[in-house]
Amino acid sequence: MKSSASPLLSPLLPSPVSSPAPLISFIDLQPDVGRFLDDVLAGLAASPKALSPKYFYDARGSELFEAICELPEYYPTRTELALMRDQAAEMAAQIGEGGLLIEFGSGASIKTEVLLHTLRPVAYVPIEIAAEALQASTTRLAAEFPQLPIIAVCADYMQPLRLPQLALIKASRRVIYFPGSTIGNLTPAEAQAFLVRALELAGPGGAMLIGVDLKKDPELLHAAYNDAQGVTAEFNLNLLRRMNRELAADFDLDRFRHVAFYNAAAGRIEMHLESLCEQTVTVSGRSFVFGAGERMHTENSCKYSVAEFQRLAQAAGFRPEQVWVDAASLFSVHLLCA
Ligand code: AVI
Repeated sequence: MKSSASPLLSPLLPSPVSSPAPLISFIDLQPDVGRFLDDVLAGLAASPKALSPKYFYDARGSELFEAICELPEYYPTRTELALMRDQAAEMAAQIGEGGLLIEFGSGASIKTEVLLHTLRPVAYVPIEIAAEALQASTTRLAAEFPQLPIIAVCADYMQPLRLPQLALIKASRRVIYFPGSTIGNLTPAEAQAFLVRALELAGPGGAMLIGVDLKKDPELLHAAYNDAQGVTAEFNLNLLRRMNRELAADFDLDRFRHVAFYNAAAGRIEMHLESLCEQTVTVSGRSFVFGAGERMHTENSCKYSVAEFQRLAQAAGFRPEQVWVDAASLFSVHLLCA
C-alpha cells in the first residue's frame, strides 16, 4: 500500500511521502494489471463474450466519460447536478452535519462540491479506481476546502474493501455518497450484494445518498447512449485500445463497432462491441475467434422506478428515508438509512 499521511491518519501510516496539501492522504489499493488480464481472458473465453465496464476508465476513458457527461443527449449528469443544487440544503438538513463523507466512484467530484458546502463533514473519503481522475479531483477539492481532511483511496469499490484507517475518525455518522447512477452498471443481484457491503461500511446509524437513473421513454434512453458526435462510441471502443496497450492485444478498432440499445424486458441499456467480420484477435499470446456480427457485452446500465429501487435497497437491509426526483422524472436521488 502506498500512502501519504495526514494529521488524521499519521498514527496508522508511518511512512509519509510527498503530499500536495497538508490534509490529503492517499491510500493505493489499485488492482494490478494481472487482474485486468485474468478478467479479459475469462470474458473473451465466455459465451457470449463479455468485459467489465470498470475497465473503461483508463486516463482516456475517464476523459471520454467527462465528455459524455457534457453531451446534449446525456441527460443524467446535468439532471442529477441540478437536483443536488436545488435540494442540497434539504439533503444536508436530513443527514446532519459532522459526518464522515465516503464517496464511491468519485470521478470528477463535481456533485460532491455541492454536498461538501452544505453537509460540512469532518472528513471526506473519495474512493475511485481511476487513479488520474482521483488525483485531479482531490487536488481541486483540497484547494477549495483547505480545512477539510481528505483521504483519497484508489481502489475497486465494487469489491469488498477493508479500510481500518477510517475507524480513527470521530464523526456523527458515516454517510456514503454514490452519485451518477453507477449502481445501474451492476445487475440487480450484484447491486443488492453491493448495497449489503455499503450498509456494513456505513455501520450503525449510517446513511447512503445514492443517484439512480429512472425508467423513461426508450427513445430518450437510446439517444443518450448513441450520441450524434460519437463520443459514447469512442468511449466503448477505447476499451479495445486499452487492451492493445496494456495487455499486448491486437484489436483492429476499424473492425468493431459500438452498439447500444434499450432492453425493455431487463429494464436496461446494453452496450456491446460488434465484430464487423470474422477475425482472430490475440491477447497476451492467447487467440480468440470472433464471428461476423458477434458481440462482446461491455456494459449494462439498469434503469429503475422509484419503487423498484426502494425494494432493492430494503432487500439489502436499508430503510428508504426520502427520495428527490426532478420535475421531468428523469433521475432520482435516494436517502437510505442503516
Ligand atoms: C458511469 N455510468 C453510470 C454511465 C452510465 O450511464 O451507465 C456510463 C456510461 N456508459 C455510456 N455512457 C455513460
